[in-house]
Amino acid sequence: MVRTAVLVSGDGTNLQSIINAQNFGKIKNCQLAAVISSRPEAFALTRAKSAGIPTFVVEYKHFSNRAAFNEAVYQKLKSLDIELVVLAGFMVVLGSPVIEAFENRIINIHPSLVPSFCGEGFYGIRVHEEALNYGVKVSGATAHFATAVADAGPVIIQRAIEVRENDTPSSLQKRIMEEVEWKILPEAISLYCEGRLSVVGRIVNIKDKGVYS
Ligand code: GAR
Repeated sequence: MVRTAVLVSGDGTNLQSIINAQNFGKIKNCQLAAVISSRPEAFALTRAKSAGIPTFVVEYKHFSNRAAFNEAVYQKLKSLDIELVVLAGFMVVLGSPVIEAFENRIINIHPSLVPSFCGEGFYGIRVHEEALNYGVKVSGATAHFATAVADAGPVIIQRAIEVRENDTPSSLQKRIMEEVEWKILPEAISLYCEGRLSVVGRIVNIKDKGVYS
C-alpha cells in the first residue's frame, strides 16, 4: 500500500472525491495516511476526521519564510513515512526540500488545461475568471506532477469540457470540479499507486491506458 498524504488549505471537495473513490474501491493500493492543512480552519480537516484519517496542521503564517514552512512540511512527511503527496487545493507553492525529495511523487490538481491559466497567482475562482475573459471555448483541469515551478510539471491526465455562453466564473468552476477534477484526481492517484506511471523528461507514460480513457 502506498502511504499517501493529502495536502489541503480549504473546502476539501477534492479530498472528499478521493475519500469517496477510496471507499468505492476505485483507488487501488493506496493508504490515506494523513491529511495536512496549511490552515487550521480548513473544512477539509473536518472531512478527513469524519473519514477517520489522521490530520495535521502546518500553518503557513506561523513561519517567518517559505523555506522554514517547506522544511516543516518535509519533516512531517518524513516522520509519517509518506511515499505519495497529493496537493488537493493546497494554496502554497511547495519548494525545497519537499520538491526534490518527492520528485515525481507529488500530484497536483489545477483547474485549467495547463499551460493555460496557471502558474503563480492562478488559483481557485481567478483561474475561471481569466479563462472566461480570454474567451476560450473549452476549459478543464489537469492532474500533474509538481515541480519547483507552479503548475509546470509533467502532465498525468487532462480532460476538457465546453464553456457555455452564459457561464459565470462560479458556474464554470462548479462544472469543472464535478465533471473533471473529482474524477481525474482519484484516477491519477490510483495510476500512481498501481505503479502504472513512468516519467521520461516531462512525458508521463501510462501503462494499459485504455482502462482510464
Ligand atoms: C480546486 O478547484 C482546485 O483545483 C484549485 O482550488 C480548488 C480547491 O477546492 N486549486 C488551485 O487553483 C491550485 N492552483 P477544494 O478545496 O474544494 O478541493
